[in-house]
Amino acid sequence: MKIYKTRDYDGMSSKAAMIISAQVILKGNSVLGLATGSSPIGVYRRLIEGYAGGDLDFSGVTTVNLDEYRGLTPENEQSYRYFMNTQLFGHINIKPENTHVPNGIVQDAELECTRYEDLIRKLGGIDLQLLGLGNNGHIGFNEPGAAFIPDTHCVDLTESTINANKRFFETADQVPRQAFTMGIKTILQARRIVMIVSGEGKAGIVKEAFFGPITPNVPASILQLHNDVHLVGDEAALSLL
Ligand code: GLP
Repeated sequence: MKIYKTRDYDGMSSKAAMIISAQVILKGNSVLGLATGSSPIGVYRRLIEGYAGGDLDFSGVTTVNLDEYRGLTPENEQSYRYFMNTQLFGHINIKPENTHVPNGIVQDAELECTRYEDLIRKLGGIDLQLLGLGNNGHIGFNEPGAAFIPDTHCVDLTESTINANKRFFETADQVPRQAFTMGIKTILQARRIVMIVSGEGKAGIVKEAFFGPITPNVPASILQLHNDVHLVGDEAALSLL
């Protein structure tokens, strides 16, 4: 694992955006795995600047997002599809048909999971997966539990995640109770992983994830087994390492 310590959120965003930019420049038809949450917003801003400045071309890039709330339409402002359209896709020259997010409003959850997993396989797998880190150690929406779940699946969100994410909704009741997420194997099969972490609130869980035991109770701890992980964090988030 490579660790990059930056002064602040902006530094984290710019460093992670550089790694992603290098990927896109070196391989114009990269498959990027993308994330939502507050951590990647600055990264996406930098990528948009790179495109606007003429340094980045996304016309050959395909994206697959980690996760999506179950029950939210793409037009819902809290859906991850809406987030991606407004924070990134709408501002760069990626082809809309090359952007993929699990469909939150399908009837048949199992079918959607199989479709998404097959899609990633047909794309040839993920070249670079961007990850945030949940307060409880989750990646995507792989919540702490008794076992690592390998493939894309539908999960019941934990109280801790509902609490952490309620800031984006008017009330906690509006936070969906379920979500689709890539599984642990789906994520681990990405050829390169870039995790971004910011703020002292993440310091404890960052230490547990990367220097504690590998356990499904801290889903991100499995990343210790991946051979190309780049952990990009600000001083506050990395302060306990
Ligand atoms: C959500 C997302 C995760 C994300 C996490 C951390 O639960 N499903 O993919 O990494 O939140 O979010 P933040 O970056 O806002 O701390």
